[in-house]
Amino acid sequence: MTTPHNLGVHGRTQAELEAVSPEFIRDGLFRAREKTISVLEEIRRMLREGMTENDARLLALTVFKSHGVTKHWHKPYIRFGSGTTLTFNEPLQAEYRLRTGDAYYLDLGPVWADADLGLEYEGDYGDTFAFGRNTEAEKCAETAHAIFREAQAAWRATKLTGEELYRLMEKRARKEGYVFVAGVEGHRVSDFPHHKYTKENLARMPFVPSESIWVLELQLNDPAGRFGAFFEDLL
Ligand SMILES: [Fe+2]
Repeated sequence: MTTPHNLGVHGRTQAELEAVSPEFIRDGLFRAREKTISVLEEIRRMLREGMTENDARLLALTVFKSHGVTKHWHKPYIRFGSGTTLTFNEPLQAEYRLRTGDAYYLDLGPVWADADLGLEYEGDYGDTFAFGRNTEAEKCAETAHAIFREAQAAWRATKLTGEELYRLMEKRARKEGYVFVAGVEGHRVSDFPHHKYTKENLARMPFVPSESIWVLELQLNDPAGRFGAFFEDLL
């Protein structure tokens, strides 16, 4: 039996899975996105060789605090070297220290209180870079960006469902010779916390997701496990 596209999952409709509070406006999420990206750049500039992933997390929390953010809907994940093949389901590397030439990624989930809008909005942004140069890791990160953009364009042009978005990205990742990491499947964002509406993953949605209230995320790993690339942004 197939699920009609006007239905969601587990007996909940698309409208229920895409709920927001009555005061919510999309601009709140866009502002949270801009501020999160700007903090991400600030943290990047403060990364130093020899830091552990936990040092980087503490740094991120301090930088966010200096911008008035003390709440995070998920803790900052900053991973170095082969740690970039790991996902948010796995703990940080305790001992590893950042070295020149390492791939690294940041995955940030701050909650921004928007005084003008009177609500708290979730930021969620993640991206991968090389600390110094690492042409192979940089290529992997660029491919993750390219696949994200292609998937987003296909969703706009041909109205892809959440399931179709992830099937497309997986196919593209394989074609480029990367491992498409399972379990990195996208989710809602909204006024904080989106968990009051749903924790369901975008990759499981049999309907065409609405604009800007879902995070599209993907992770590509080097088949040899030397590095990975994580990227996420609003769909
Ligand atoms: Fe995130």
